[in-house]
Amino acid sequence: MARKFFVGGNFKMNGTLSSIKDIVENLNKAQLDSNVETVIAPPALYLLLVRELAKKEIGVAAQNVFDKPNGAFTGEISVSQLKDSGIDWTILGHSERRTLLAESDETVASKTKYATDNGVSVIWCCGESLEQREAGKTLDVIAAQLAALKSKNPDWSKIVIAYEPIWAIGTGKVATTEQAQEVHASIREWLVKNVSQAVADETRILYGGSVSEKNCKDLSKEKDIDGFLVGGASLKPAFVDIINCNL
Ligand code: G3P
Repeated sequence: MARKFFVGGNFKMNGTLSSIKDIVENLNKAQLDSNVETVIAPPALYLLLVRELAKKEIGVAAQNVFDKPNGAFTGEISVSQLKDSGIDWTILGHSERRTLLAESDETVASKTKYATDNGVSVIWCCGESLEQREAGKTLDVIAAQLAALKSKNPDWSKIVIAYEPIWAIGTGKVATTEQAQEVHASIREWLVKNVSQAVADETRILYGGSVSEKNCKDLSKEKDIDGFLVGGASLKPAFVDIINCNL
């Protein structure tokens, strides 16, 4: 089965009512490649607005979700609240949450299991720091993140994997096509060995980290790169060029 190219826009903690409306209007007006699944992730406060404004072919994702049913969890948002608001996706395990908010591999895996079991698809992020890369530990770090996820036995059909080397995020230092392809291929091989050939064949593996309208075309040609998770550039009109990089 061919994997549908996927482009996610992670707005992070950026935007205002007015700038987010502009971004969505710009996407609504654009002719987007119908062979690409596009999903945008605004800050939680704007999820409903974006879901109401965006054309239906654009998916909307939260940037995080909790792994418990509704209840006394101040500051959190539940999976059922996302579904109630028409939000079908969430990002989980972004490196900013793993590092700044101390989310462990176990926490991210547990949230991913809970979301996928309850009908919300997950853009599950993994990736190494510069220090880990320089110590030759890239694949070990990612394998440990994947192993924690696998131990929860999640619904893989609802997971898109985003490989985001931490040293490439927001730095302008994009991984080379070879560096990205090498890690993507090893993630796919890990899935073959540890989950199944079918899951390995069907799971989309996105690259994230300083993706721009300038580098997206070359990255997209790599065999195991099935799309992008875009940060800074998703706030700009050039996001349309990234979505349409294969046209
Ligand atoms: O989740 C997307 C991301 O972390 C990459 O950010 O700004 O380097 O594209 P950026």
